[in-house]
Amino acid sequence: MRRRPDLGGLEAVLLDMDGTLVDSDASVERAWSTWAGEYGVPVDTVLAVAHGSPAGRTVAHLLPRLGPEEVAIAARRQLALQYDDLSDVAAAPGAHELLATLDRCGLPWAVVTSADGRLAKARLAAAGIDPPLLLTIDDVRHGKPDPEGYLRAAGLLRADPAACLVVEDSEPGLAAGTAAGMPTAALRGLDGDLRLFDLGHLAHLLRRARTSPWWRDAVGYQVYLPSFGDSTGDGWGDLAGAGEHLDHLARLGVDVVWLTPFFRSPMRDHGYDIADYRVVDPSFGGDAALDELLARAHRRGMRVIGDLVVNHTSDAHPWFTAASSSRADPYRDYYIWRDPAPDGGPPNNWLSHFGGPAWTFSEATGQYYLHLFSPEQPDLNWRNPALAAQVDEVIEHWLARGLDGFRIDTAAYLVKDADLRDNPLLPADLLVPVGGVTMEWRRQDHRHDIHQPDVHAVHERWRRVADRHDAFLVGEVYELDPGTLARFVDGERLHSSFWFGLVESGWDPERIDTMLAAAAAASPRLSWVQGNHDRPRAATRYGGGQVGRRRSLALHVLMASLPGTMWIYQGEELGLGDGHVPRGHGADPLATAEPGQSRDAARTPMPWRPGPGLGFTTGRPWLPEGGRTDADTVAAQEADPASHLTTLRRLLTTRRRLAGPAAATDEIARADLGAGVTAYRRGGLWAVANLRDATAAEVELPAPAVFDSDDPAVTPERPRTGRVRLAPQQALLLAGPWPAS
Ligand code: NOJ
Repeated sequence: MRRRPDLGGLEAVLLDMDGTLVDSDASVERAWSTWAGEYGVPVDTVLAVAHGSPAGRTVAHLLPRLGPEEVAIAARRQLALQYDDLSDVAAAPGAHELLATLDRCGLPWAVVTSADGRLAKARLAAAGIDPPLLLTIDDVRHGKPDPEGYLRAAGLLRADPAACLVVEDSEPGLAAGTAAGMPTAALRGLDGDLRLFDLGHLAHLLRRARTSPWWRDAVGYQVYLPSFGDSTGDGWGDLAGAGEHLDHLARLGVDVVWLTPFFRSPMRDHGYDIADYRVVDPSFGGDAALDELLARAHRRGMRVIGDLVVNHTSDAHPWFTAASSSRADPYRDYYIWRDPAPDGGPPNNWLSHFGGPAWTFSEATGQYYLHLFSPEQPDLNWRNPALAAQVDEVIEHWLARGLDGFRIDTAAYLVKDADLRDNPLLPADLLVPVGGVTMEWRRQDHRHDIHQPDVHAVHERWRRVADRHDAFLVGEVYELDPGTLARFVDGERLHSSFWFGLVESGWDPERIDTMLAAAAAASPRLSWVQGNHDRPRAATRYGGGQVGRRRSLALHVLMASLPGTMWIYQGEELGLGDGHVPRGHGADPLATAEPGQSRDAARTPMPWRPGPGLGFTTGRPWLPEGGRTDADTVAAQEADPASHLTTLRRLLTTRRRLAGPAAATDEIARADLGAGVTAYRRGGLWAVANLRDATAAEVELPAPAVFDSDDPAVTPERPRTGRVRLAPQQALLLAGPWPAS
């Protein structure tokens, strides 16, 4: 298996020139084409082998009949042709961003190329690059694709070869780096220890590797595994299918991927009912598929977290089978059992989220067991130390195996009132302000069944395990009061927790503005999220259609300025609204009790490309396709510079360049720019949005705009200054002063 390069411990970066640092493809191809004509070799044959090798080696390969003298002459001719036209030679995408980042990180770098010295200097000058160290074919005996060039460069920079990253865009170059004992980063879809889509990507990874902790200000992405990608054609998403789409996530700017549960499960709640915590369900591809996915994600510099569902197990878990067999079974106390009430009914008035009482009677032992979700999801007893020890081991197992942390399912539910007291009813005019539950559940004041203060001790215990692995724990806590939520991430508790204010909210700009500001002020460690697999999609909740999409995007711009981590639920990057699921075609257990609360509409398959199966599956999807249009798909939006996807990518690309210098502080303040415009300031970074449905009056920008949701021409290099009138839902990022790059 490939090593995961330690980007934080690098001592130098060694960059190939042509095709890597300098975009010279057209000029190289032109030169080889002319040469091919002169030497009578088919152009295609030449172009197929020339890339990445010194000219002499390519000539000898193509014309084996030539002697060494003639090879040298033919190679010189080829090199001479390369000087003909440097007009289209330029820096490769992201090159200047990378070099500025290397300088800022104090990382020495060199260019190592198989071009000769004169040509290399001419090309680098044309690209505006002046390397501190340049090694060309004139400086080595055998030519750069041998390890010699890279080892020489490491020596001159006094760097340990094992701590030098080789950046290459050709197979021979990568092989040379590997032969020199150096980790490699590959462009053009080639495989190295890292796989880059451009040099800006590497700049980002280097900056993040110097960010501590690694999840600070990271961008997260929720993969709802059953609906993301299906590699087998059975209509059900799997890990290999997810792995096929990691480039989409890397390009979007994702740092950490949350995979919904992949463990062995009868799938009564689509994975949130686990029957074996240590085995990957065969329907997701088994253990090998997870290893492969982790390796692929890590190669792209992304982390992967799992989903820890330990409020309950499946009733098919061997612990429950044993526990329900006899009152004397050693596992009995892993679950919560009680005698019937005097009338023979449930022991208290607690309710299941999915309808009916939270208790089911077990004939075999004559007692009820507790389940805050369906009867197939019995609740674990977190007051039993033996259970806690088992779960520690489960966490340890997966973190040692390569997972980078966990999203904690129902993180505030684990511990229940020791006396199992009845919940009081709320006053008749009040309802718990959350969705994803029955109406009956919302009428109770849940002061005894969930959110008990003892739960913090469980989180503290997990934190100790996680920190040994530099892993990240983010809680699912439906606590909308930011001050109370902040207690979940205080001190040595969870690293972060989702704040669901935006998820539980329709479109109410003033309320959203106030809530967001209050949450950001409560803690710099919250996770910002607009949607997930349990609630209607953001674009639908915010009004649907183009307006709903624009509102969601404006909120993403505001979220981009907040300290903490920012999350995208799969499909949100496309501006997807709820999928259409005809009556009788759903699968959500909640829908049986409360059809209006069905979560299926947020879970329909990810639309990758137009056509049957949407590129999600070649078979029949487990949930209907949802009525997606061609314009909803990744393929269509990728090709459109004004699409939701392209705009969000632009936002995240800009944000990651601003991280660090512009957002060095966690302090966030609301700013009053007038005209009813919402503005937050964090150090040198500002997010400004018109959340209203009318064009705002003109405002003076307090710093240059480097991102404009409505104008792709606004970039860090071409910022917009002065006065602006923001269209409805138009949103900007401002930064100043902009660090030179
Ligand atoms: C929260 C999950 O997100 C949801 O999908 C699940 O039904 C419940 N927890 C129970 O595990």
